[in-house]
Amino acid sequence: GDMVMKKQSTLDLEFMALLSEVMFGHGFAHYGYFEGGKAPDLTGQSLSNAQQAYFDKLADAIPDGVKTIFEIGSGTGANALALIGRGYDMTLLSPSVQMNQMAREKLPAGTEVIDATLEEFERDDMFDICLYAESFHYIDMTSALAKTERHAREGFVLFDYFRREAHRETDRTHSTHAEFLAALEAQGAFEVVSDEDVTAEIAPTFEIMNYVQTEKLAPFLERFRGELAREKPWRSWVLEKFAGKKLNRLATPSKRPGFFEEQNEYHLMVMKRRN
Ligand SMILES: C[S@@+](CC[C@H](N)C(=O)[O-])C[C@H]1O[C@@H](n2cnc3c(N)ncnc32)[C@H](O)[C@@H]1O
Repeated sequence: GDMVMKKQSTLDLEFMALLSEVMFGHGFAHYGYFEGGKAPDLTGQSLSNAQQAYFDKLADAIPDGVKTIFEIGSGTGANALALIGRGYDMTLLSPSVQMNQMAREKLPAGTEVIDATLEEFERDDMFDICLYAESFHYIDMTSALAKTERHAREGFVLFDYFRREAHRETDRTHSTHAEFLAALEAQGAFEVVSDEDVTAEIAPTFEIMNYVQTEKLAPFLERFRGELAREKPWRSWVLEKFAGKKLNRLATPSKRPGFFEEQNEYHLMVMKRRN
């Protein structure tokens, strides 16, 4: 049940990141940010541009004076590479061995990439800020806040989504925005400096993914599988036996239009340490 689901989604994430890396050359593993809440067209290219816009939005939120950043849930190192380009000193942490290897290959020698979950990371290094780009919701919230207090001298930046109250029960691993604020308040170490709801700007990501899956990928796979079944029945049998379910999933949108914004709210938040 649960373990298999977890593994599956890790593999999907890694595959998406690999595609982003080879198709568009950056390897961002986050959604797109669409200025004005509208995609100019439904292509992978505009999703890629929107992933870049997401990065720019994130980078602009980093408070002045910050030099060292601990990126938690660092994906393929795409944010880190661009932040190094902007002059920051980066340290990365992520449990994904595959993506960490991609990160090491693109980052300057000497940039540390730590193979671990934040929950199991036990060191006392201090950084100016911690950075969570679409990674906070993967991590146990209490543990994430405790570790942030332990590693962030000045504060942290969080760019991620929360479950809406009405959909709280659909997934126990995601917290609501109100739960996050309450946990932050209870901890007492940080205060919110800015909090922007960008759900509308993120939502077109799913319009593009749905379109690509239902209008492009699904008919392509259907034709491909039909042809294979006619011409190479034996190979077709093997493919269907071992990858049939996976292919069905690839061609089925995981989120119908409107689903994401109904269930989630995406926020860009900056927290600073209380004095
Ligand atoms: C959606 S990706 C975002 C990657 C990157 N921040 C970006 O913006 O492209 C989520 C990242 O969180 C990482 N992650 C998942 N569980 C984690 C945990 N418990 N502790 C730290 N990182 C985790 C994943 O391995 C992945 O690198």
